[in-house]
Amino acid sequence: MGKVYAIANQKGGVGKTTTAVNVGACIAEAGYPTVLVDADPQANATVGLGVERTRTPGLYEVLSGDVQAEDALTETVVPGLMLLAAGPGLAGANVEMPRLEGFEHRMREALEPLRSRFGYVLLDCPPSLGPLTVSALVAADRIIVPVQTEYYALEGLASLLETLDRVQRDLNPRLTVAGMLLTMHDSRTRLGREVEEEVRRHFPDLVFDTVIPRNVRVGEAPSYGLPVTHHDPHSAGAEAYFELAKEVAARG
Ligand SMILES: Nc1ncnc2c1ncn2[C@@H]1O[C@H](COP(=O)(O)OP(=O)(O)O)[C@@H](O)[C@H]1O
Ligand SMILES: [Mg+2]
Repeated sequence: MGKVYAIANQKGGVGKTTTAVNVGACIAEAGYPTVLVDADPQANATVGLGVERTRTPGLYEVLSGDVQAEDALTETVVPGLMLLAAGPGLAGANVEMPRLEGFEHRMREALEPLRSRFGYVLLDCPPSLGPLTVSALVAADRIIVPVQTEYYALEGLASLLETLDRVQRDLNPRLTVAGMLLTMHDSRTRLGREVEEEVRRHFPDLVFDTVIPRNVRVGEAPSYGLPVTHHDPHSAGAEAYFELAKEVAARG
C-alpha cells in the first residue's frame, strides 16, 4: 500500500511546492509510481509541472464526487509521476467544504484508491491551516514541513504543531512527522548557520539531515514547467532533492 505525504506549513513561500514537485520527480525517477496532488488553489505545482492552471478535472471535481481520483490524473514530463491538478474550482472548495458534514474525511476517502496504484502520494498544501490543509492532514500518513532558514523561521511552527496535535487526536491518529526540511539555505551567512542550529536544537531528531540550498536553478525551473531535477540535474538544488528523496524513503 502506498504512503501519503502532506507537504505543509501555513507560511507562504517556504518551499512547499518546490519540495512536493522535486521529491515527487526524484521518487518517480527512482522507479516508484508517484502521484502529486495539487491541493493549493494557486495551482503552482500544476503549473510547475508544465500543466495549465485551468486543467480539469482536478481535485475540486474529485472532492465533489463527480470524478474518481484515478480518472482525474494527468501525465507529466517525468515518467512515473502523475499529477492530480488543482483545477479552477478549488478556491471555492475552501468555502464550500466546511458546510458539508464530515468534510475533513472527504479527501482521504477520495484519494484512498490511489494507494493501491502508487507507492507515494504527495499532497502540496496551501499556505493556511484552512479546510484544504486540514483535509490533507487527515488524508496523510506523514507530514513534511519545509522551513525556510531565515530570521523568523520558527515563527508559526507552534500553531502548525498545535493543528497537528488536534488532527492526530480527533481525526487521524496515524499521522506522524516525516521531518522538517530546511530550505533556501545559505550556509555562507552567519544567519543561515544560526537558524539551522536553532531549528535543530528545538526539534532534535525531527529535522532532515539534507538541507536544500538556495539555488538559482531551483527558482527558475518552474518557469520551464520542469522539476529542477530535469531542468538541471547536476545543479546543487537537484542533487539536494535527490538526497532528500532517499532520506524520505529511508525514514519510511
Ligand atoms: N532552494 C531554492 N532556491 C531558490 N529558490 C527557491 C528555492 N526553493 C523555492 N524557491 C522559490 O521560492 C519561491 C517560493 O517557493 P514555493 O515552493 O512556491 O513555496 P510555497 O509553496 O511554500 O509557497 C518560489 O518562487 C520558488 O521557485
Ligand atoms: Mg505552494
